[in-house]
Amino acid sequence: MTTATAAAIDAALRRHGGQRVALVQILREVQAHTQWLPPAVLTAVADGVGLTPAIVQGVASFYRFFHLQPVGRVHLLFSDNVTDRHAGSRRLAGRLCERLGVALGQVSANGAVSVGYTSCTGLGDQGPAALVNQHQVLTRLDETRIDDLARRLLAEEPTTAWPAAWHRVVPQIRKAGPLLASPPLLGESLQALLARGADATLTELATAALRGRGGAGFDTARKWALCRAAPVPAGGTRVVVCNADEGEPGTFKDRVLLSEQADAVVEGMTVAARVLGASQGFVYLRGEYRFLLEHLASVLARRRAAGLLGRGILGVEGFDFDIAIHLGAGAYVCGEESALIESLEGKRGVPRIRPPFPVAQGYLGQPTVVNNVETFAAAAHIAGRGGAWWAGLGVPGSTGTKIHSVSGDCERPGVYEFPFGVTVAELLAACGARDTLMVQVGGPSGVALAADEFQRRISFDDVPSAGAFMVFDATRDPFEIAHGFAEFFAHESCGFCTPCRVGTELVKRRFDKLARGHGSVFDGAELQALESLLHGTTHCGLGATATNPLRDTLKRFPTAYGRRLQGPRFVPGFDLDAELAPARRVTGRDDAGAHLAQEG
Ligand SMILES: Cc1cc2nc3c(=O)[nH]c(=O)nc-3n(C[C@H](O)[C@H](O)[C@H](O)COP(=O)(O)O)c2cc1C
Ligand code: SF4
Repeated sequence: MTTATAAAIDAALRRHGGQRVALVQILREVQAHTQWLPPAVLTAVADGVGLTPAIVQGVASFYRFFHLQPVGRVHLLFSDNVTDRHAGSRRLAGRLCERLGVALGQVSANGAVSVGYTSCTGLGDQGPAALVNQHQVLTRLDETRIDDLARRLLAEEPTTAWPAAWHRVVPQIRKAGPLLASPPLLGESLQALLARGADATLTELATAALRGRGGAGFDTARKWALCRAAPVPAGGTRVVVCNADEGEPGTFKDRVLLSEQADAVVEGMTVAARVLGASQGFVYLRGEYRFLLEHLASVLARRRAAGLLGRGILGVEGFDFDIAIHLGAGAYVCGEESALIESLEGKRGVPRIRPPFPVAQGYLGQPTVVNNVETFAAAAHIAGRGGAWWAGLGVPGSTGTKIHSVSGDCERPGVYEFPFGVTVAELLAACGARDTLMVQVGGPSGVALAADEFQRRISFDDVPSAGAFMVFDATRDPFEIAHGFAEFFAHESCGFCTPCRVGTELVKRRFDKLARGHGSVFDGAELQALESLLHGTTHCGLGATATNPLRDTLKRFPTAYGRRLQGPRFVPGFDLDAELAPARRVTGRDDAGAHLAQEG
């Protein structure tokens, strides 16, 4: 190990006090220097945090952004959501590899560059996009940009010399409501909270009937009340966590809230802290949004200096609350709140067995509230303007506004804030979509709708949405869309439970087989069986929703499957004879009887 590497490890360990809960952060910071994590580095980190190398290796291997094999000094990952593919991402990635003379997934001979794919990077409104060393983003890629990029990479130009415009991320707020249009909240809601008191503020939240914006739609006031009532272990505190993992493909509204309305989000977290009696807070920021880190850190610093965070907030003795930012490292499942807490504790992001729920025993066994970015922003405004105001927006059961991340086949991709109850057709008209075949609302784990359902309303009781609104026009193929989402879930399954680990892979392989033209009626039945299996038997919501795109597209677009399921005879999904080849080699037997024929 070089002296520079040893120094980088030392510095990262010191920054985090050698605490094992900071393992993910330490690995991130070390890898920023070393590009990848060779065994000697993992061992040194393990020594530093007092864990075995096997545990550290287990953690590192869980997260996609940690590399246990060398990658290029510039490591480029193209966003690989279905909408990115439609916008040409795969063609552009191929073009770049060709220009560089490097195969996808391989490191160039001189070690300068490697190119690969990653799940949706949250830039669906300005793609095709790519991540550079999981640190910077490239947006609006096209042939010209790719050719220029290839030239600079071949010349080994430092990334800092690349044009700033390549990294530009535009908020693209197309329609703003109270969450996106308000001036920054700089303590106004905290003043209102202090004037009203914690109990009355919780009552306002209940009056508002705010439901969580992260997907499940849990009653926010109820969640806070449960946490508030949970006993705190000796020497501990309650904890407030902002879920900014935003890994659902097609979702990017939290990115915009964090870049444009960070004060409201932090103010909402601080309101929660006062109501709960919490002194510790975290923003769990997805690794793909690393480019927002400096901005968020400066907002926190400014608020500390203004007495809106830290000890004695607004001069009130005992109102102590501060927030740390924890960067994720590329794992969709870490958006699931108990997996997120595991990750915050420096572990593999495997969802916990519940109960106990995080509100009772969350971060390090302490009562913890996890809310979505948008939920905290809404809570801040409710604390300031009152629950009745919020309840007056939207529709019964789904109060307030909802921000939609609109992408795909439309003229005006971006974020749209509408009161709940807006119809799918209204959103399509607003974003300039034409000839729409299908809309995927809420991301792959949400619901796919066909044209005869576009009068349905976005609300918890009709079409719920965690924020993604992907538009597909009549040139697209619902089978291919569902195939892309099946690949996503198989890739993101954390592997903890068998039905999801194996089931998502079997679904993907079955899709692969149909795509190759080897489908028969048998495969349709098999897909249906897998669909019901996954819905009922998995440990967390990832597996339970992984076949939603299959379910919805099979039901709504049967012809997209029909022509792929017409093979007259069953074609096996694997080559039995080839599978037996190693056995023939080992036994030295290669007669006719050692070549089993596959029965149809
Ligand atoms: C696989 C999976 C991924 C999730 N990803 C996110 C996410 O990125 N952001 C989020 O807020 N909630 C996500 N959730 C939901 C969280 O578990 C949790 O319900 C939410 O953070 C609670 O906040 P809310 O009540 O404000 O919605 C995810 C759930 C699952 C099962
Ligand atoms: S359902 Fe999938 S993601 Fe969730 S715990 Fe099981 S294997 Fe992991």
